[in-house]
Amino acid sequence: MQKTEYTKKILESIGIPSQPLFLLSLQEEFSKKVPDFHNIINIVEKDVSLSARLIRVANSPFFAGGRIETIEQALRMVGIDNFYSIILAAALKEAMSEKDLDKEFFEFFWSHTELMAAACAYIARRTRSAPEGYAYMTGLFHDCAVPLLIKRFDGYLKVFRLALRLNYPVVEIENDIYKTDHCIAGFVIATSWHLPKPVSYAIKYHHYPDIDIYESPEIRKLASTLILAETIVYAGSMQQNAGNFEIEPSWGRTLDSFLMNNPIDFDSRWAKIMSDLGIDEEDVFSIREKVFEIITR
Ligand SMILES: [Fe+2]
Ligand SMILES: [Fe+2]
Repeated sequence: MQKTEYTKKILESIGIPSQPLFLLSLQEEFSKKVPDFHNIINIVEKDVSLSARLIRVANSPFFAGGRIETIEQALRMVGIDNFYSIILAAALKEAMSEKDLDKEFFEFFWSHTELMAAACAYIARRTRSAPEGYAYMTGLFHDCAVPLLIKRFDGYLKVFRLALRLNYPVVEIENDIYKTDHCIAGFVIATSWHLPKPVSYAIKYHHYPDIDIYESPEIRKLASTLILAETIVYAGSMQQNAGNFEIEPSWGRTLDSFLMNNPIDFDSRWAKIMSDLGIDEEDVFSIREKVFEIITR
């Protein structure tokens, strides 16, 4: 059986979290040439917890626009693009938190997820490698299968943590033991949530050592965005946790092996990623500084 099909069956055995109905209706509305503002408001207002979250975010210091009390005001304040990102994140968080996960792990997982979404969006905006919304979704969903695999397989979390600690490629271990991995499983979930095709495919091989696995330039750029974001976010988290964890000048090399134990020549791999994103090493360092700012905000 093909690995994707096999993975789908595994996930179905515990139930792939279904895409909330409101999201489906919103996707339909957004796919129209001219989305109807009032229809969007109606859809959101029907969901009480979504409405509350949207108003809370619109009132947060990030948007700082005074007192927001209605969905219409909130929508005008955050803008259509941010609005979609906010509801997608809310829907995913809700779907994932139903998985009875260890609280500490869920906090770690969710903070990694949010940082990755923000970092991917920033890199896409800065390098123009992909539509910002696509990059945000890619970051948001890239590890979304991890909570499900924890639920499906006893001991998965231990294996996952051990692999990270021992600097061993997570995906290889997953495949050895479970005959699938969180990247393929993430692809299955992203597809079932009808995310745009480039987003699902960028997730599918996000720990794969060679970016040449992607033929489509569009998907390849999105995947490069994700890989750069992941590398930098891990560097940032390490720096935060270990105080003076100094990784220059071989920061990428260290992290790359940390994440993927890359069997392919390091320099050609990063050369490909940088060329996909149209950036040089200096840009990478300046992007890293900006992403670190996001992390420590
Ligand atoms: Fe990740
Ligand atoms: Fe991952």
